[in-house]
Amino acid sequence: MEVDTPKISSGLEGIYITNSNICKVDGINGRLWYRGYSIEALAENSNFEEVSYLLIYGALPDAEQMEAFSKKLKQYRELSQTTIDILSRMVGRADPMDILRTAISALPADDKDAYENSDDQNARKSIMLISKVASITATIGRMLAGKTYVKPNGDLDHASNFLYMLNGSKPNERDSKVIDLMLVLHAEHATNASTFSAMVTGSTLADIYAAVTSGIATLKGPLHGGADENALKMMREIGTPANTEKYIDDALAGKKRIMGFGHRVYKTYDPRAKIIKKYLIESEDYSDDLKNLAAIALRAETLMIGRLGKTHGIWPNVDFFSGPVYLSIGIPLELFTPLFAVARTPGWCAHVLEYWKNNRLFRPLDFYTGALDIEYKKISER
Ligand code: CMC
Repeated sequence: MEVDTPKISSGLEGIYITNSNICKVDGINGRLWYRGYSIEALAENSNFEEVSYLLIYGALPDAEQMEAFSKKLKQYRELSQTTIDILSRMVGRADPMDILRTAISALPADDKDAYENSDDQNARKSIMLISKVASITATIGRMLAGKTYVKPNGDLDHASNFLYMLNGSKPNERDSKVIDLMLVLHAEHATNASTFSAMVTGSTLADIYAAVTSGIATLKGPLHGGADENALKMMREIGTPANTEKYIDDALAGKKRIMGFGHRVYKTYDPRAKIIKKYLIESEDYSDDLKNLAAIALRAETLMIGRLGKTHGIWPNVDFFSGPVYLSIGIPLELFTPLFAVARTPGWCAHVLEYWKNNRLFRPLDFYTGALDIEYKKISER
């Protein structure tokens, strides 16, 4: 029987939906672990390919397992003519996230085993998705710059190959390192909105292509993956470090949200933002534009922590410092959110694969507050 006034948890805040061994977010102390390994240890010692393996298979690989995994990632990098056609028809006419979502959604057309859903096939498709999301994103970036598809380079690791397919030339060591680090930091974050969305789709026993498509669609929003893009736009609007205080105060007075701050789970400094900040302040080689953006970001950080940090638990999140760091390695603004999808694909897949082990259809309730048994009048009588 339905209760009179159920407790509504708006935005599912505070609701546990499953047990999981993938990721622990400690929002009080600002800590994060993937499969038990701290984000600091992974950022320092690991790389995106290894982290992807860890997320998908649950443990770090030995050398042989790592080699086989990297080989599979390489095998799937090349894009089919179907995908290239979709990208060419859409680039310049739709948002890059819509293009990415559409191209991923069309992948089953090129996969003869697309609807085989054994554990092995699902792991294979996950690896394929990790690979394809990167190649598609790089190619969208290339086409946005008016250039054509570049075939992948089999000598390069996943992160370096992403930059290669974007720019058409081998990246330098610093750029490869930074992009790889950014992918590691964004790879997984428990049941955030896009992962939950992928899990809901997975829970209907739709396939993993459908689940990742849902994840991409959900990541697009400015309250989630779109925040880094909007944080950078805000820094550009602020213009100079001296204007930061007035801008922030006016925005807060007008009840505007400052992008790149605040988090549903972290009520303290996001540990990923701390790591990214180190790359922001290593800025001697930056252009004047980047130095200016970095100065604005650091000023905004101090002001926001002073205004809302300690009192309201609103601190910098992963998206705040990312923009200037991406710009420093030549990633254009339009690719920031698709790049988040490149990083988060192993996280989405890991959660869907885990949830399928004990699958139960997601079907929450809403509490109906409208009228009942209203007299129906024909259209001519209304
Ligand atoms: N700037 C100003 N005020 C804020 C902000 C912000 N960034 N974030 C929250 N608040 C205020 C909000 O206005 C509200 O105030 P009041 O109680 O006076 O109405 C209060 O804090 C609580 O806000 P909420 O929306 O109920 O809190 P939440 O836990 O749902 O917020 C959030 C999480 C991420 C949606 C929010 O902090 C936000 O909108 N941040 C800006 C967007 C952003 O940076 N998103 C990226 C999140 S991290 C990466 C990811 O998950 O993709």
